Order: sequence, then C-alpha cells, then structure tokens
Amino acid sequence: MTKIAEIKQRFEQDLSLCQTLLHLQDLKSKYLGKSGELTALLKGIRDLPAEERPVFGAKVNELRNQLESELAARTAVIKEEELKRRLADEKIDISLCDMQPWGALHPVTLVQNEICDLMIAMGFEVMSGPEIETDRYNFQALNIPFDHPARDMQDTFYLTDNLLLRTHTSPMQARYMERKKPPIKMICPGKVFRSDNDASHSPVFHQIEGLVVDKNVTLRDLKGTLEYLASHLFGQNTKVRFRPSFFPFTEPSVEVDLTCCNCGGKGCSLCKGTGWIEVLGAGMVNPYVLENCGIDSTEYNGYAFGMGLDRIAMIKYGIPDIRLLFENDVRLLRQFGK
Ligand code: DAH
Repeated sequence: MTKIAEIKQRFEQDLSLCQTLLHLQDLKSKYLGKSGELTALLKGIRDLPAEERPVFGAKVNELRNQLESELAARTAVIKEEELKRRLADEKIDISLCDMQPWGALHPVTLVQNEICDLMIAMGFEVMSGPEIETDRYNFQALNIPFDHPARDMQDTFYLTDNLLLRTHTSPMQARYMERKKPPIKMICPGKVFRSDNDASHSPVFHQIEGLVVDKNVTLRDLKGTLEYLASHLFGQNTKVRFRPSFFPFTEPSVEVDLTCCNCGGKGCSLCKGTGWIEVLGAGMVNPYVLENCGIDSTEYNGYAFGMGLDRIAMIKYGIPDIRLLFENDVRLLRQFGK
C-alpha cells in the first residue's frame, strides 16, 4: 500500500512538469505501459497471501483509473494550450493589406513604357546607355568638335575634362553604330542632365532617342514613324509637321510639331495660340556621323530623332511645371498612375 501511495505521489509530481503531448506520452508508458511501474506492481501480486490479493488488485486498478483520468485531463489542457499557441504564432492579419497604400507608376515612366511598346511593335530594339559619358560619344562622334558653337546649346555638367553627365541620349547612336552594322532600328530612353532650372527646365530630365540606319531611308520614313507614334500617344487626328532646323548630327535637320492635343489645332494657351506643339528634334543622320562610327555613308543612310519624355508627359497629363515631376509627391503619382 505504501508503494501505491508512493507511485501516485511521483506520478503527480512528474505530471506537473509535463509541458507537451510528447512528455505526456512518455509519462503514460513510464507508469501505465507494458513495462511500466503499475504493471510491475500487479505482477508482484503473486507474492502476496491469497486473502490480500483482491484488495491489493482493486487498489492498483483504482490507481490505474486515477492516473488515466488525470492523464486525459492534462492532455486536454495541453492540446488546448498548443492550439492557442499555434493560432497566435501563425496569425495573419489580413486587415493589414488595406493599410498599405497602392504604388503607382510615375507619369514619365508611363509615357516611356507606352512609347517603347509602340516602337517595339514597329521593330525597334530598346537599348540603355551610360549616364556618365565621354566627350567623344556625347559630342565629337556626333559631329560636335571642341570648338563647335553647338556646345553652347547644351549647358554641360563636366566631371573631368573628358567625362561628363550626358546632355542627351544621342551618344547611344554612336555607341550602337560602332558595334552593330545596318540594318539598325533602335531606341534608347534614359536620364539626361543639363545645368538649367526653371518651370520648363530641370537639371535632370528624360529623353528617348531613335535611330534607323539602312539603305534608301528617307525623311518620309521618319514622318510615317512619328505619325504612327503621335496618333497612338495623342489620338488619331494628331498631325505631324516638320520645320527646318539645325543639329550637327543630322542633315537636313527638322523640328517636329504635333497638332495641339488640348485644342485640336484651333489655338489655346497650351499651344500659345498656334495650334501646334513642338515635341522633338530629328533629321537624316549626318554622313559624318555614320563615317565616325565606321558605317559607309555611300552605301547607307538613316534618320534619327530625340524627344523629351518629361515634356510629352506634361502635355499628355496637363502637368504645368516640370519640377512637379521631380518633387516625389506621392499624390502626383496617384493622380495619373495605374
Ligand atoms: N540630341 C538633341 C537634343 O538633345 C535631340 C535630337 C535632335 C536628337 C535631332 C536626334 C536628332 O537624334 O536627330 O537636343
């Protein structure tokens, strides 16, 4: 009987230390299993005088029932605790998603993506080039030697005598032509830099360059490409107009206007009453530039154009001041971004 009492006491002590279902399983086999303590106790019944056996047997069975019900009760408690712990650990707060504001693409990115998609549809390859350029690619290869007055057209940020922040995306024309032979159809969007800062000029802005080199390319090809682009960007009735201009890297050069998308050509404040908006510079690639890049100008010719993406975005979305594009005000993004 003292043994029974002693086992019960030890069991209770062990039970109070059990923290997991695994502990409980161990405890169960330690006391109630085949080679457990209670089984051993029952086996000892043989050594008792016959008249004591029934009482002893009944006591051991009583103890077994007690241990089993205590184990069951503790198992239920631990299961409940484990469930609670898992629910807490694995909790997902689905309401959190609502608190995250949606991101939106920048108007310049939207316009850039749209133009790239349209140009890719016409078979152009999209390239990107370095923002830090050498004097050679930014100027000399494009027929702008050191003493050329055209250098004054672009207020350059020089890093060293030879290195600068590219003032336009045109250097990619030279880089591309040096490496690939015609037929060439490529565009290059990217950031460009000039020392300029007011409502319509930012020291950093975006351009997209276009270049086609092949046999028998004409200004008419350039116009057709730009008409396709303009009608998709600004609407079907948009007309394209060429005006004579000058760029050292094109001959002849043109300034390209589109009918004003605000008034349809009647004249408004956006187009300053003219009905036209100037959007880009272009022309037939100057044979000097082809030769500078190792392309035979007696066999090949081409056209090129460069346009300001910020300006296109401002016209398209009615943004009055270029500085708004660089202020990082998320409200501007949400207004136009998808
Ligand atoms: N690079 C010129 C600029 O930044 C724009 C330009 C004009 C690019 C004529 C061209 C071009 O490719 O043919 O002002």
